[in-house]
Amino acid sequence: MGVIKILEKEILDREDLVNLLSAEAADRQLLFKKAEEVKLREIGNKVHFRGLVEFSNICGKDCYYCGIRRSNREAHRYNVTDEQILDAARFAHENDYGSLVMQAGELESSAFTNRIENLLREIKKLSDGKLGITLSLGEQSREVYERWYEAGAHRYLLRIETSNPELYKKYHPNDALHDFEKRLGCLYTLKSIGYQTGTGVMIGLPFQDRGHLAEDLLFMKDFDVDMVGMGPFIEHQHTPLFQYRHQLLPIQERFDLALKMIATLRILMKDINIAAATALQAIDPMGREKAIKVGANIIMPNITPGKYRNDYALYENKPCVDEEPEECKNCLDVRIQLVDGKIGYGEWGDSKHFARRTEQRIDHG
Ligand code: 5AD
Ligand code: FES
Repeated sequence: MGVIKILEKEILDREDLVNLLSAEAADRQLLFKKAEEVKLREIGNKVHFRGLVEFSNICGKDCYYCGIRRSNREAHRYNVTDEQILDAARFAHENDYGSLVMQAGELESSAFTNRIENLLREIKKLSDGKLGITLSLGEQSREVYERWYEAGAHRYLLRIETSNPELYKKYHPNDALHDFEKRLGCLYTLKSIGYQTGTGVMIGLPFQDRGHLAEDLLFMKDFDVDMVGMGPFIEHQHTPLFQYRHQLLPIQERFDLALKMIATLRILMKDINIAAATALQAIDPMGREKAIKVGANIIMPNITPGKYRNDYALYENKPCVDEEPEECKNCLDVRIQLVDGKIGYGEWGDSKHFARRTEQRIDHG
């Protein structure tokens, strides 16, 4: 079936999605146009900020793609102080970012749990409850997720990375710390606690094809996710997956496929929040803005204290590592206008999908 016909359909199946992800030239433009229309109609042209604090790259896990994996002895490890994290939160609040994302390498310990819990309460206090807080701190127990929710976090990001359990094994060590079912279980737990729940995948991984990506999109739909962050895979020289670099799609094609994933997801899940992943900008200086144009509505400007920013190197060529948050903000203002967006300063910009899904739950008891 041609792209025009597919774009008229109410329900998209795996084959439709593969076709959309394969669209080239004029068909690709149709896909992008449709995604833009859907976004403007369903959620408008507002782009919301999430000030991103990557507060530590100390990680207990060993994912084969990630530059801060435990076994990478080349990584220079850091841990930002609580005071610096609170300064970053104050910056986000004073500059009307609306929300903060706290992200770090994955650690499970009571000291870590307590630390985050205290920080959450402090951030709520210093912003008078106004700063929305998203956590991106990996797999934790239900009890930990509950404590953090109680302390003020209301969104959680946990990328499934790939929704295919067989592929998952190729990108992670085969042990209890890297168990697909456990990760999936965490997503269900987060949702049941009441978090706005976000997931996502990497695009252009070795061994992955468009069929897998179509299934990833269907996974997001079936899970009924509230938010998605997904971006191109970028090989890192100090990781095991680097050995497959010659089998990867050329970087520009990975970028292109990531844009098509975003556009297709917007058509599939009309009212969710979709982030323009920073990895897009590592490939194309206007990468995130291009993503906004074709369906994304969230940007996560990096507000990690400058001297650490280079060290949170999940992948290479990370953008904006030399900019101070203040410069980044002005720069983004202009960039978003270029793609007809408007920044929703001071607003939480919660997922409309979450509001609808939870209202429904209340209506139907
Ligand atoms: N390329 C692109 N994205 C990566 N991530 C980790 N390593 C890489 C890489 N080499 C992504 C993962 C993780 C998120 C925080 O960063 O999807 O969930
Ligand atoms: Fe960071 Fe422009 S977006 S400097």
